[in-house]
Amino acid sequence: MATIKEVAALAGVSSATVSHVINGTRYVSDGVREQVLNAMNSVDYRPNALARSLRSGITHTLGLIIPDSANPFFAELGHCIENAAFKAGYSVILCNTENDLNKELLYMDVLTKKLVDGMIFVATGENADTFKNLLELDIPVVVMDRNFDGLDLEVVSSNNHQGGLLATNHLISLGHKRIACVSGPSKINPSSKRLDGYIEALNTNGIKVDPRWIVQGDFHPESGYIAARKLLSLPEPPTAIFACNDLMAMGVIKAAKTLGLRVPEDLALVGYDDIELASYTNPPLSTIKQPKVEMGLRTLQIILERIKDKKSALQKIELPVTLIVRDSCGAKIDV
Ligand code: RIB
Repeated sequence: MATIKEVAALAGVSSATVSHVINGTRYVSDGVREQVLNAMNSVDYRPNALARSLRSGITHTLGLIIPDSANPFFAELGHCIENAAFKAGYSVILCNTENDLNKELLYMDVLTKKLVDGMIFVATGENADTFKNLLELDIPVVVMDRNFDGLDLEVVSSNNHQGGLLATNHLISLGHKRIACVSGPSKINPSSKRLDGYIEALNTNGIKVDPRWIVQGDFHPESGYIAARKLLSLPEPPTAIFACNDLMAMGVIKAAKTLGLRVPEDLALVGYDDIELASYTNPPLSTIKQPKVEMGLRTLQIILERIKDKKSALQKIELPVTLIVRDSCGAKIDV
């Protein structure tokens, strides 16, 4: 394999000049640059990126840790971040923790050893230890989506309490009173805040919350199906369901159809996330839109700023969510 010294001799310049051409670390005239590039091509010289990174401490690489790469919410978020990072000259290493705490810790270690310049982190759940481990890392970290209150971390999330309120108040405005909630895992911050919004909306409208109306899912479709079967078998089943993510809402649609119930005629339904598939379900899903593109771009902006300036004030951003009304929640009902 050709060396930098051979390239320098061939181009008639010093090894330092070849290094400046490769790394862009100092001005080199166009003529000299062309000499060096021609010499590199003639001996098929390939700069050692790892050696360069070890010398400079910069890899132009970001780590992105997410809990479930098969969930379209995270896939769409990761797609946005990777696209924008590539345009900014950064590669992204995607780590899928499969909601496993041990895998999450392992990936934090792997990314640190790979000398990523920064880490974007979506936790598997609301485990304080995980977030405290982040604080011990010596690299810039931005927490996205799932936060743990009270820690000195940079965070970009969306207003989950507002989302629970919006979804439930919409169903109440359609005349529903027996409104159930298929929540996500209770220890996950976004889910618990959506559930709080659901409860607050019912209480504010004078509707007593029946604990049987709240069934916990795990953010996967099957858990929405199982939860809906349980809810729809109650002596007085709900006339509406708020599902704390779109995948579980799809499970609810399947359960209703299995029981011979029509959505929305027999059961109104609102989901959460507004993944791309939400407008292709039958019926198309009313849902709470999380601003995935803005969340991804703001997160990337903060991590790149943090890489450049480790001392500026920490940012904590909570983005608003919006109600998207499609066919699954139906029209006003006669009460
Ligand atoms: O669909 C997955 C859910 O977990 C989303 O609502 C997102 O907020 C994440 O926390």
